[in-house]
Amino acid sequence: MKLGVNIDHIAVLREARRIADPDPMDALSICKRAGADQITIHLREDRRHMQDFDAENIIRLSSLPVNLECAIASDMIDIACRLRPHRVTLVPEKREEVTTEGGLAVTGKQPRLKHAIERLQAEEIEVSLFIDPTTQAVNASKELGVEWVEFHTGKYANIYAMLYSGLEKTPYTIPQLELPRNTLKKLLDKELENLRKLSCDTAELGIKVAAGHGLNYHNVSDIVAIEMIEELNIGQSIVARSVFSGLEQAILDLKALLIR
Ligand code: PXP
Repeated sequence: MKLGVNIDHIAVLREARRIADPDPMDALSICKRAGADQITIHLREDRRHMQDFDAENIIRLSSLPVNLECAIASDMIDIACRLRPHRVTLVPEKREEVTTEGGLAVTGKQPRLKHAIERLQAEEIEVSLFIDPTTQAVNASKELGVEWVEFHTGKYANIYAMLYSGLEKTPYTIPQLELPRNTLKKLLDKELENLRKLSCDTAELGIKVAAGHGLNYHNVSDIVAIEMIEELNIGQSIVARSVFSGLEQAILDLKALLIR
């Protein structure tokens, strides 16, 4: 299974001081050496972590394919078309969110989304849609003619955290998931089954399947077991571990968990 390493959080640390260190560019060769298959970056409209110059330099100089995540706003698509990364993953953005909290609204009439996809594909850039794992979103993605979808695994990760990580004892509890253990276990099984079924359905439609958000060293194995998922994009947990073990070791540890 392929691993896209999301290096946004290196820029988060740099932007905390607005100085030059740590430089996400320094991660490129380490990711390559550790066996990453792809570099993933999110150029947010609010530029809270990656800046335009980061995206420009990373796409120009990375020897690994670069997956650029961005919103469907026309000025973001202008940038993507100019930089021409290997792939663009279209994601929803809300200014007030801490991270990308849900999938793109792909159902119903979406002329802006369609236009963004057509512009990117005209530049021969692969397009992926970051979607919630629902049948409606998969069918809408098929109609939109994209090469990839990436399933948002946030719900799975949240249920897993409440069930196994003792998150309920921290300030980061998720109130709507404060449920008895057996209920959480059933919810987790249901979410995994949903991801399994939708991954098969999506692959049958000829769309490649990726997944990401909230995946870590504890919860990743059940996702790896879903055969039709070809790629994971993981950021927070890798960069968090790298603080203690170094980035190369953090990626090596994760790659070991992706072996099928
Ligand atoms: N995939 C997409 C489309 C994302 O937007 C993100 C970041 O929110 C990730 C994967 C990585 O998520 P995480 O940092 O939780 O691993």
